[in-house]
Amino acid sequence: MKILAIESSCDETAAAVVENGRKVLSSVIASQVSEHIIYGGVVPEIASRRHAEAISGVVGQALSQANLTLADIDAVAVTYGPGLIGALLVGVNYAKSLAYASGLPLIPVHHLRSHIAANYLCHEDLEPPFFCLVVSGGHSHLVKVNSYTDYEIIGKTRDDAAGEALDKAARSMGLPYPGGLNLDKIAKDGNPKAYRFPHPRVDGSPFDFSFSGLKTSVINTIHNAKQKGEEINIPDLGASFMNAVVDCLCSNTEKAAEQFGFHKIVLAGGVSANSVLRRRMNEICKKHGWSLYMPELSLCGDNAAMVGAQGYYEYLSGNTAELSLNAYAGLSIDESPRNK
Ligand code: KG4
Ligand code: ZN
Repeated sequence: MKILAIESSCDETAAAVVENGRKVLSSVIASQVSEHIIYGGVVPEIASRRHAEAISGVVGQALSQANLTLADIDAVAVTYGPGLIGALLVGVNYAKSLAYASGLPLIPVHHLRSHIAANYLCHEDLEPPFFCLVVSGGHSHLVKVNSYTDYEIIGKTRDDAAGEALDKAARSMGLPYPGGLNLDKIAKDGNPKAYRFPHPRVDGSPFDFSFSGLKTSVINTIHNAKQKGEEINIPDLGASFMNAVVDCLCSNTEKAAEQFGFHKIVLAGGVSANSVLRRRMNEICKKHGWSLYMPELSLCGDNAAMVGAQGYYEYLSGNTAELSLNAYAGLSIDESPRNK
């Protein structure tokens, strides 16, 4: 089964053709990073406009790179949430038009489910059940993936997502957007023990995260140093902060996997590209004898191939949508896509 997939939840306009949920026949990503860089973050209105301009060319390119036409496609999958509502609506409306014009089934795909499914594209042996840490710009979840379409949230952030905290801290250090990626780069030259940060815990919810205090702590460190006229070593500060964020992510994942008896751990989302997180999770899994699956770096960030992968499993579960499908800025991973 060949699925044409579309992703436009944030600042990448992407389309791909994926066969049977596992084989990428083409994948095209038009990034808007250069447009948003001067604002230090994604400007939603600009994102929507750029998606509208790019989508038809990106979809056309995905078909031509796969040497296919719409007549060869069996279904259209699209990210319908969560994300920036104006941005999502561009992809959803384009997918609906394609499905209407061609008579193909329309498959709604949850953004975080698709991030998890990125792993199916690079690990052919990976099948649920497994335990997953999903860390992106907007979300930080610990999830039991019971089947390809059945999820249970075990822990989540009470405030900022890990990526959001990394982005905001990077910005306060004067690093350009996208902050997480640039922080990862400069931290390679830094000493992770140079600055001490709190390791926040959420009372009564051992698997939840809280990153806003950590982020404020970085901002305060910078302000205090400025007021005293002291130099801040940015690589050291970046490395120390990143280390603190990764510590929280890893310790909750380890505790939860032990408690729930999972020996198969999966990382997903933009932050799963982080070099320290990948190394540390590797060490933890080795220590326990658990298997660890991480997306290839090219599949960590937003792309449409992962939407095609998850779309296949949603289709097999009967999760197709009517042409009345809407987009949702907020949407829980455990919510059924039916009747949307
Ligand atoms: O999944 P994603 O591409 O978009 C969302 O769904 O939000 O994740 C984007 C997030 C951003 O916060 C970005 O700074 C972060 O992923 N990110 C990284 C790295 N690459 C991207 N964070 C840490 N280290 C990286 N190497
Ligand atoms: Zn994402």
